Amino acid sequence: MYSCPRCGQLAELVLEMDPEEARAWPERWRARLPGRDAAGRSGVWRFSELLPSTPAGVEAVTLGEGGTPLVELPQLAEELQLESLWVKHLGVNPTGSFKDLGMTVCVTEARALGRGVVACASTGNTSASMAAYAARAGLRALVLVPEGQVTAAKLAQALDFGAMVVQAGQTFDEAFLLLRQLAPRLNLYLANSINPFRLEGQKTAVVELLEQLDWRPPDYLILPGGNLGNVSALGKGISELADAGLVTDVPRLGVVQAEGASPFHRMWSSGAEELVPEDHPETRATAIRIGRPANWPRAMRALLRTRGLTAAVPDSEIETAKRRLAELGVGCEPASAASLAGLRRMRQSGQVPAGTRVVLVLTGHQLKDTAYVEEHLAGLPGIRRAEPTLEGVERSLRGWL
Ligand SMILES: Cc1ncc(COP(=O)(O)O)c(C=O)c1O
Repeated sequence: MYSCPRCGQLAELVLEMDPEEARAWPERWRARLPGRDAAGRSGVWRFSELLPSTPAGVEAVTLGEGGTPLVELPQLAEELQLESLWVKHLGVNPTGSFKDLGMTVCVTEARALGRGVVACASTGNTSASMAAYAARAGLRALVLVPEGQVTAAKLAQALDFGAMVVQAGQTFDEAFLLLRQLAPRLNLYLANSINPFRLEGQKTAVVELLEQLDWRPPDYLILPGGNLGNVSALGKGISELADAGLVTDVPRLGVVQAEGASPFHRMWSSGAEELVPEDHPETRATAIRIGRPANWPRAMRALLRTRGLTAAVPDSEIETAKRRLAELGVGCEPASAASLAGLRRMRQSGQVPAGTRVVLVLTGHQLKDTAYVEEHLAGLPGIRRAEPTLEGVERSLRGWL
């Protein structure tokens, strides 16, 4: 059951905790860090106190996800007049995106329920991740993708892990609607972010982040938004840590959407209470080309809880942001760079004041969309051809060395 049969709202897992006991959690989590934990728990399962328990005898389906780097970018902090700026790189996960954090919990639940086929609609990363965890669990994987809208690398991952890939429709929204109707007919276990177990795993990213910052939260935590599962997950994580008394100041969540696919930004910035879907979402950042985000009510709650903010950025600014990160040695896929493009806008508008501490969430790996780099080579040294002689190679380097 993914939503309430009475009110139609998406189902959510509620964490029961004893704040007294919660005080001991950070020390327990530290004791489970790699190298210190005999059980070899992943960066997600290390936070088991915050996760749904698995029935006795059911082992977690894990590929060692989590434990991702937090990289400080002092040059960029100075450029943007911030006290500090970091990127939390969730693209450094087993299949190259943040989806793995949720998929380990979701596919573990599918296993616990004895389900045979897991399924998702996807802009690419969910399919790659689900296919990997399904393979690991010995389950079958069915993926619905919009035709011609998923990068070659992401499709190759799903195929490599043995998923059945069906191209159906022109947008993620179309494929997702179809899948939601097909799921009960074909007895499919849905692994999209409407599945509450996905969010449980994804929320651990913010726990790990705060641990990396010695429990001193940043002022802002900014991430790209598509179907809005990740902001919902991070918002849930922040709320639970606050309820447990582990943080007092909560970071303000910032959601960045591509201008051509920004229904949530439009809703939030206009003060509307209902989301108006976009029927023809358009952006070159294909991972966030979504016009009908299923999780918008959850995302709205996360933003209300954290006094959040939003921005919409044109593709040209995403490209500039991606280039700037690459100049600093940080690679990511285009959708991830939207975080930086959004932060620039939020600095310009004063929504994010100078002198604050900011973390950008990078959601996907650089190698997820290499065609994008080839399309945007202008201004880069690029590839030159040379005769295979010393003189030939030297000639090709003229003007560069
Ligand atoms: C790289 C990347 N960034 C951001 C998103 C958006 O995440 P969400 O749909 O949880 O808002 C996605 C979703 O597919 C993604 O693949």
